[in-house]
Amino acid sequence: MAYPIHRSRRLRQTEQLRALVRETRLSADQLVMPLFVCPGTGVRNPISSMPGNFQVSIDQLVVDCKKLVDTGICHVILFGIPESKDPVGSGGYAEDGIIPRAIRALKKDVPSLSVWGDVCMCEYTDHGHCGIIKDGDVANDETLPLLAKAAVAYAEAGADVVAPSDMMDGRVGAIRDALDERGLEHIVIVSYAAKYASSFYGPFREAAESPPQFGDRKGYQMDPANAEEALKEVEQDLEEGADIVMVKPALPYLDVIHRVKEAFGVPVAAYNVSGEFAMIQAAARNGWIDLEKAMMESLISIRRAGADIILTYFAADAAKQLRT
Ligand code: PBG
Repeated sequence: MAYPIHRSRRLRQTEQLRALVRETRLSADQLVMPLFVCPGTGVRNPISSMPGNFQVSIDQLVVDCKKLVDTGICHVILFGIPESKDPVGSGGYAEDGIIPRAIRALKKDVPSLSVWGDVCMCEYTDHGHCGIIKDGDVANDETLPLLAKAAVAYAEAGADVVAPSDMMDGRVGAIRDALDERGLEHIVIVSYAAKYASSFYGPFREAAESPPQFGDRKGYQMDPANAEEALKEVEQDLEEGADIVMVKPALPYLDVIHRVKEAFGVPVAAYNVSGEFAMIQAAARNGWIDLEKAMMESLISIRRAGADIILTYFAADAAKQLRT
């Protein structure tokens, strides 16, 4: 059907027509808000590279989550900043650690909120790596029981979802087994299946106080050049029992999101990471970009690529925008 019979512009004339033929939708119940929890009371430390985001103590977390629920946000993912760090990241799996305490408080005071616990060691180890160190390297198999312990601690505290972000091999299976052994077979696992060794995590590492103290994460996170490998990672995690698989970061990896969705047809999450958020914020602060439009365009692009679920620091602002 060629011009002049067919005119693409006909369906673009009004917002009503554009909405009628819109292929992709975004709604607040698809968004997950990442939050950083720290010790103390009344604490609200701004994170300079992530405007509008704070490290908050548990009492403030409860206040913030009540507001989030009012804007239509249904899910939060928690990252912990422990009292102290050690070589084995014990603050990450202690039953009375910062995350289990935060989960208990939220389940008591904001019961309608779905609470996810990010399972990793880098916020809790003094060396900042996502596993324990043996002979100068991150020891995969020795790390698995500790990750499983953290997942169980979060589930027992009341978490709805555990989300391992460490990229150790075999961790989804280890976590599934540990949960099931304790009668926690209803707990959902969202695996960070295709997590890249990305420079876009910079602001997060400030927020979570988790930069590696030596080396980098290239020995366990994926090479940005690889996409076939992402499919293999996703397949393995699904075989081990992942319920939802994640691609991270989102915008530089839209092709990977698309391929994962096409190949497996399972629920796919994408993490619109701290650096993606910071870039838009910084450009907007300079008056170079319209913050709200760039935010909504980014999120709809991630949905269009194939993500069902988006973890994003824009969650609260986008939910407000979606209501208007
Ligand atoms: C922990 C973890 C990281 C992020 C989420 N979980 C940091 C990292 O791997 O270095 C990054 C999230 C973001 O940048 O928003 N392993």
